[in-house]
Amino acid sequence: TLERTFAIVKPDAVKDGHMGEILTAIEQSGLKIVGLKLTRLTPAICQGFYHEHVGKGFYAELEAFMTEGPVAIMVLEGENAILRWRDLMGATNPANAAEGTLRKRFGASIGRNATHGSDKPESARFEVGYFFNAFEQF
Ligand code: CMP
Repeated sequence: TLERTFAIVKPDAVKDGHMGEILTAIEQSGLKIVGLKLTRLTPAICQGFYHEHVGKGFYAELEAFMTEGPVAIMVLEGENAILRWRDLMGATNPANAAEGTLRKRFGASIGRNATHGSDKPESARFEVGYFFNAFEQF
């Protein structure tokens, strides 16, 4: 099925100069970038986005990290885009991520892990709509 998913190049990867390499990996995988912006999350925007994690032990650390600098946010489209983007990223913890995946290449720890991707269709719908209106998706 043709899907859309939501992707973030997190503050660590932007700061370290890996935005271009990550966009290249996405395009070379065959996924299409149909929405793209550079922005910076505020605590309130981060809380709304990660609402499932607010209240967890790691949330304060997650919010501090995600608001520390600019992020690139994207809408990706393709057949099975949700799973394909997750496969490109690799496991959440870079220590467990397969060789060649983006989190293995650019992530430092489970918190500072370079990229985000929606985990399922309902999350993708919510996350895309949270950041992109219809005029910003092509
Ligand atoms: P992400 O896919 O963006 O979704 C939620 C994020 O929380 C996750 O990536 C991790 O970066 C972060 N996270 C999950 N578990 C932990 C943890 N135990 N400690 C710190 N950060 C975590």
